[in-house]
Amino acid sequence: MFKKLATGAAFALAMIPAASYAAGGGEQHITDYAFSFEGPFGTYDRNQLQRGLQIYTEVCAACHGLKLVPLRTLADEGGPQLPEDQVRAYAADNFSVYDPELDEDRPAKPVDHFPENNNAGAPDLSMMAKARAGFHGPYGLGINQLFKGMGGAEYIASLLAGYTGESKEEAGTTFYENTAFPGGWISMAPPLSDEQVEFADGHANDVEAMSQDVAAFLMWTAEPKMMARKQAGFVGVLFLTLLSVMLYLTNKRLWAPHKGKH
Ligand code: HEC
Repeated sequence: MFKKLATGAAFALAMIPAASYAAGGGEQHITDYAFSFEGPFGTYDRNQLQRGLQIYTEVCAACHGLKLVPLRTLADEGGPQLPEDQVRAYAADNFSVYDPELDEDRPAKPVDHFPENNNAGAPDLSMMAKARAGFHGPYGLGINQLFKGMGGAEYIASLLAGYTGESKEEAGTTFYENTAFPGGWISMAPPLSDEQVEFADGHANDVEAMSQDVAAFLMWTAEPKMMARKQAGFVGVLFLTLLSVMLYLTNKRLWAPHKGKH
């Protein structure tokens, strides 16, 4: 029964033409980037998260906030893992917050969150990588998500690298053509250009590379404990496997005296 079902599903999948992977009538294009954090044992790439943080700070922070993310988590294991003193310097150098006790702005500290920012109507990016799905599948059934994951980071990277260069004016607002954005036209001007951000380690800084770096960083802000979750899942599966083996052996032993008697 199950076997039959499985072949049926595989057949149905083989019949789905590649174009229908896109949602919204086949025009939305999401690239299936290979991120380091994919798969059951995938982990965040610390260097990539640090580059993504730098891109966010130098480019995206001008419009987008990350108000749900405490600055101190930049030091957390599994994240960008900046040394504590660098987190302190980063917070103070880049952001200031209003302090009700002082009744004035002061440089941000690790206990503060990244500031809120909705410049030009830009949405907060803290949870964006979990709020968007890159893959949908035919009729929005989510079949592709089963195989490729939700694809929030893929969506963001594809969005940033998906500008065609076309733009149009509508009711006083400029819209930019984008192959990843649902509907094809977004009001965010292309934020990245080649070589816009210089990395200390000389890492590639073309639009494609930077799009993936900042998308990985935003996946981390949305799910900072992903690695711990995967580890707990693995331990859980291991535990249940051991438990199954022991129950099987116990069952066998308990019934052994009664076997073969009628
Ligand atoms: C000049 C301001 C500005 C900058 C800089 C900017 N954005 Fe945006 N962004 C916007 C606006 C405005 C929107 C809303 C666009 C819309 O809904 O049409 C937006 C929307 C988004 C969205 C949501 C798209 C969706 O599916 O709704 C993402 C993701 C995003 N920006 C990422 C980034 C990243 C990453 C950077 C830095 C590399 C960045 N933005 C830089 C203004 C900006």
